[in-house]
Amino acid sequence: MSLDVESLPKHAANYGAHWWRSAVIYQVYPRSFADANGDGMGDLPGITSRLDSLAALGIDAIWLSPFMRSPQKDAGYDVSDYEDVDPLFGTLADFDAMVARAHELGLRILVDLVPNHTSDQHRWFQAALSSAEGSADRAFYHFKDGRGEQGELPPNNWVSMFGGPAWTRITNPDGTPGQWYCHLFDSSQPDLNWENPAVQEAFEGILRFWLDRGVDGFRVDQPHAMGKAVGLPDHPDVERAGAGFIEGEPSPPMWFQESVHPIFRRWRQILDSYPGDRAMCGEAYVLPLSFMALWVRADEFHQTFNFRFLDSEWRPQILFNSINESFEAFDAVGAPSTWVLSNHDIIRHATRMGGVVGRPTASDGIGPNDPQPERELGLRRARAATLFMLALPGSSYLYQGEELGLPEHTTLADEFRQDPTFYRTAGKRVGRDGCRVPLPWESGAGAANGFNTTGKSWLPQPEIYAEYARDRQEGVVGSTLELYKHALKVRKELQIGEGSFEWVPEFVSENSLGFRNGEILVIHNFGHEPIELPAGEVIASSLTGMSSGHPLVKDQTVWLKLS
Ligand code: NOJ
Repeated sequence: MSLDVESLPKHAANYGAHWWRSAVIYQVYPRSFADANGDGMGDLPGITSRLDSLAALGIDAIWLSPFMRSPQKDAGYDVSDYEDVDPLFGTLADFDAMVARAHELGLRILVDLVPNHTSDQHRWFQAALSSAEGSADRAFYHFKDGRGEQGELPPNNWVSMFGGPAWTRITNPDGTPGQWYCHLFDSSQPDLNWENPAVQEAFEGILRFWLDRGVDGFRVDQPHAMGKAVGLPDHPDVERAGAGFIEGEPSPPMWFQESVHPIFRRWRQILDSYPGDRAMCGEAYVLPLSFMALWVRADEFHQTFNFRFLDSEWRPQILFNSINESFEAFDAVGAPSTWVLSNHDIIRHATRMGGVVGRPTASDGIGPNDPQPERELGLRRARAATLFMLALPGSSYLYQGEELGLPEHTTLADEFRQDPTFYRTAGKRVGRDGCRVPLPWESGAGAANGFNTTGKSWLPQPEIYAEYARDRQEGVVGSTLELYKHALKVRKELQIGEGSFEWVPEFVSENSLGFRNGEILVIHNFGHEPIELPAGEVIASSLTGMSSGHPLVKDQTVWLKLS
């Protein structure tokens, strides 16, 4: 373990800066948040009806996963109309009502924009299918002739993130086999051709459509996939990299191409032309972070998700390195770092951390036949990890349900699975359904614990979810919900998100990590030996019953106001 603390850069405070530099942004996954019409699928009126609890939680903004018109082949990340609400979730009027209520409560709304691919049901793709090869309609996407004598082989060796080839061959209107189209995800998600100015122009219109409706910005899906190398050459190392890339080696032809940056600069100009400090966060899986930082230069994205931190496996050395790399990279371009532990694509951190530490975040999921996590241990560590994260200056992302300490559904039966990953890998990867299960609001209120009044649920909750329901935790000292509320309140009062960062050498070892943010000392104990705390007032602790004078025990985080 090499924890050379002295030579590291320190991060300076940035008080009074733009809201997005320090915001706590809560991800609402509309399918599973709250269901007002009782059909088993969450909806926009359901979200509106529960916004008070989010305001009470103390968050600043909401990122709303897709709710636009979609055949839902990839839970809404397959959009068939970017300027309408899917009837599953309500109407545009419901959307407006939701935004109005959120704004009344002081909450900002970022909507998910999916520009890399559309649904195959989008009118652009349908037009492309019925148009001739080489036509303007086909030029919206990547259509190519196949290789082999009869064009029977895919145009290149790219593979899909969800498994299988990244190409599907179409059948011509006369029944003969036709060209192939590219899809880095499911075959129902054809990739758009971002070299085409018509595509660029169409999306500028879409941005304006939502900005005009009052959204505060966007979370942008897979922006690092939008540019493709000219001619769509083979992936040079598909054996080793699969659908992805190998860090430190030249970027393969489908990931983080230079050609995307002018597009985001243009989008930034559009956002900046609206009043009210609108912001966009890119889901740019670009590593190392010094490369990701290029995406948050002053005239591009405001934020990107910090996947390095997410992948830190809660191991002190990896975490230490990832935090250093974050401040180094993002400070170099004057951007805030973001921090995140859970989202709708990965195993919930209360489950990931319950068992072998180091379980990867990858979207493979946990099924009933896999080793099952230890619930109590996972929750204890998850609470500590969250408290640690929320003390880091920058913007933090929370995923719905983590404030309840919700574990993953790890015993979901195959018959309920919906994630295309499960089907494209013949069940080898169970996929992401386990983290997408509807939320429990009131324990025992119907079969879905208050998710709705009918008890219907597009994914069934595991029985244990009743124990985690919000009403069981509201006002209960020591509950995970109260821990989150308290931490968010103190974070705001002490301007922790806008604060500074500096390691405290005395508490940096293979058994603990400790840093200062202004007057606050934050320490986490990874080891078995209790740690004596310096004099000061304990202002937040991941374990209940903690007060000054007590040593810090294993898997515990504390915030201490130094005296
Ligand atoms: C990332 C999204 O978070 C994920 O849920 C989706 O499947 C892929 N992008 C494809 O849109």
